Amino acid sequence: MCIRPLGPDDVPRMVALQAEVYPSGLHESAQVLSSKISAVPAGWTSLAATQGEHLCAYALGYPWRADLQPRWNHLLARHHDCDVLYVHDVAVSVAWAGKGIARSLVSQLLLQGARFGLDRAILIAVEGAQGYWSRHGFVAADAGQVDPAFGSEAVLMSRRLDPISPEPLARQ
Ligand SMILES: CC(C)(COP(=O)(O)OP(=O)(O)OC[C@H]1O[C@@H](n2cnc3c(N)ncnc32)[C@H](O)[C@@H]1OP(=O)(O)O)[C@@H](O)C(=O)NCCC(=O)NCCS
Repeated sequence: MCIRPLGPDDVPRMVALQAEVYPSGLHESAQVLSSKISAVPAGWTSLAATQGEHLCAYALGYPWRADLQPRWNHLLARHHDCDVLYVHDVAVSVAWAGKGIARSLVSQLLLQGARFGLDRAILIAVEGAQGYWSRHGFVAADAGQVDPAFGSEAVLMSRRLDPISPEPLARQ
């Protein structure tokens, strides 16, 4: 299993993975997925877990502005003055579920957020995944409005990101 940055060439396989794990109302178009990979600050990457050519899982997340409402299946425009990490979508192929792949991808995404100086992560739990996200330290946030496209059970969740300590200076 290899974890690497998600790239535009992965989009067709992401579309197939979405079709495997989400009901059709929660599928995003290839164009939208591409924008969510690309319209991000320099140095930011979403993550793919692969075995050979096979996309086993992906975690799509990016810096976001807490005052904006996350949207489902909506082209991402590059935002400035981002103050939170938004974990948009984590999907694991059924054959690879339960092996800690999502845990590993989410941990790396949260770490990357902290390295970018973000001190909070948010997400919208769909399809009853609230219990899964609470294992990662997310708690239901004061509602605000959630885009109805996420489904009637969608819950906005949030957690703090621990600051990254500066690297100790190497001894001379
Ligand atoms: C939810 C999902 C990302 C978990 O991926 P994974 O790689 O299997 O997760 P991990 O291996 O890190 O964790 C597995 C554990 O989480 C639990 N879990 C999985 N989905 C869960 C859910 N919806 N609610 C609560 N717990 C859940 C499993 O039962 C397992 O528990 P165990 O460790 O006690 O056996 C994956 O099942 C998936 O892609 N689901 C469909 C898409 C989805 O709902 N994504 C989240 C949208 S917000």
